Amino acid sequence: MLRVDVITLFPGLFSAFASEAFVGIARERGALEVAVHDLRGWTSDRHRTVDDTPFGGGPGMVLKPEPLCAAIEALAGPRGPGRSARVVLFTPQGRRLDQAHVARLAVEPALVLVCGRYEGVDQRVIDLAVDEEVSIGDYVLSGGELPAMTLIEAMTRLLPGVLGNPASASTDSFEDGLLEGPQYTRPAVFRGVAVPEVLRSGDHAAIARWRVEQARTATRERRPDLAATGRRKPGTPEGREGEER
Ligand code: 6GU
Repeated sequence: MLRVDVITLFPGLFSAFASEAFVGIARERGALEVAVHDLRGWTSDRHRTVDDTPFGGGPGMVLKPEPLCAAIEALAGPRGPGRSARVVLFTPQGRRLDQAHVARLAVEPALVLVCGRYEGVDQRVIDLAVDEEVSIGDYVLSGGELPAMTLIEAMTRLLPGVLGNPASASTDSFEDGLLEGPQYTRPAVFRGVAVPEVLRSGDHAAIARWRVEQARTATRERRPDLAATGRRKPGTPEGREGEER
């Protein structure tokens, strides 16, 4: 069971996300628990103030330390060995998320995901209460809500008992450092374009070889950065030969 607490200024963004599709299924099956918390619940002034202008001037607003630290510590405890959850802050300054990082976070017992606003979070929150900062890529979003959903969805796919077919997650792109090759379904000919003959041959070994070759070619052409390190799992030099997909 993975427990996820989300701290956000926009809890409504999570309601459909947390109840539908795989995340909803994971919750129903008891593999995942997601609780979404409104940061304004930890304010104490009449206006429920969560941000303020930056010291030193400049555009935008900065999330104030008091409500955010109070929220984090209420959900994860103070930073240190006794802490009950790992605290992740989503910010463009974070380390870029990849599948290996998703897999490490998915085996934590509990996570507190803090959705920053683009303009920033008071540095003392990061220094005093956050365990790590994560970004999802080199583009600008207004806040950490979509990154938090991205991480939750990616982790959910890895939780035991969530995907119908347990082989699916491990044969996905990136698990083995290769992109997926092309996939086809019926009809066998669509607008004059036929499905590759080998896929209809019934020769499972030939199909497995073809798929590995397609995956390598796609990776080399589209993601040479992955191709440099991409490797089939140890002990399976030809990948998923004979495996049903
Ligand atoms: Cl985590 N936050 C924001 N605001 N923008 C991002 C991001 C995070 N990751 C990519 N862009």
